[in-house]
Amino acid sequence: MKTNELKRRHTFHNNEPEREEFFDAVAAGLEREQKEFPCKYLYDEQGSRLFDKICTLDEYYPTRTELHIMQSNIDDIAGRFGDNVLLIEYGSGSSLKTRILLDRLRDLSGYIPIDISKEHLLHSASELKKQYPDLNVLPVCADYTKQFNLPDNADAGARRVVYFPGSTIGNFHPEEAIDFLRTISKVISRNGLLLLGIDLKKDPIVLHRAYNDRQGVTAMFNLNSLVRANRELGTNFRTDLFKHYAFFNPSPGRVEMHLISLEDQKVRLNGTTVSIEQGESIHTECSYKYTLHEFEQLAAKAGFRVDHVWTDEDDMFSVQLLKPLL
Ligand SMILES: C[S@@+](CC[C@H](N)C(=O)[O-])C[C@H]1O[C@@H](n2cnc3c(N)ncnc32)[C@H](O)[C@@H]1O
Repeated sequence: MKTNELKRRHTFHNNEPEREEFFDAVAAGLEREQKEFPCKYLYDEQGSRLFDKICTLDEYYPTRTELHIMQSNIDDIAGRFGDNVLLIEYGSGSSLKTRILLDRLRDLSGYIPIDISKEHLLHSASELKKQYPDLNVLPVCADYTKQFNLPDNADAGARRVVYFPGSTIGNFHPEEAIDFLRTISKVISRNGLLLLGIDLKKDPIVLHRAYNDRQGVTAMFNLNSLVRANRELGTNFRTDLFKHYAFFNPSPGRVEMHLISLEDQKVRLNGTTVSIEQGESIHTECSYKYTLHEFEQLAAKAGFRVDHVWTDEDDMFSVQLLKPLL
């Protein structure tokens, strides 16, 4: 075995969800009155690649705004972390925003990127190792909504700082977000910190454009869920018979992404068939938007206090530092 492969095996922690789990989630979702596809399965290798492309689109303001907030305030942010930090990132994707932290934080005892999208995670981790040869990068492939272990060889008395950018917390329903934050508070313990990217409520037209881009990249990202199910689960979804549709639903305060069936159709699912009527939709993703006050209240229910908030000039997006209330 080559040294690189040995090294990779040593540092990579693989808890990738099994195919059966994916199958059960899709089968259960298609049985619901409002059909659903769990959004975490939007991210296979191709889904992650398409998401990266979404991040570069004109209409998709969150990435560039969050990057701008991070760049403008990095000294203040990093100063609040102190020395000897273990950085743990949930839903790390390409670790793009993380590089702003990595460039500035000198004494990191390690960096643990956690993501469900295995190939993409491994690629990002190997790029990081090239760019930061002295950094202890310990990738973990896992579904962070489930129980999994973090590598135990990186702590060495370091302060744990969890980074959760990209407004990915908006993909949870608020009650689930509270449960997730409670889990994070156990991970970081009393002297840890949580740095979050939270998208803010704004003009629905701006939101509508962000999730219905002119080039149709978000549509491809959404439809890729069906391509993935066909490949991995043996379903026979026809992507030409579904249309991407996303809209802001003001009452729950979220953007909803759907795939609308253009015809009455039947889809094969392990020996049975699922009927989908013309006009019926499969709900694939929620992206909750918050006011600063709403998020502060949510965080308090999970046992966190908001220590500091950084926003852009137009209050489009926020980066927030949270501390456990104890
Ligand atoms: C909205 S993207 C954000 C990516 C990156 N953090 C950023 O800010 O650009 C969400 C990321 O979380 C990952 N993800 C989504 N659900 C997940 C889950 N349940 N467990 C682990 N990773 C998940 C996806 O693969 C993806 O990389």
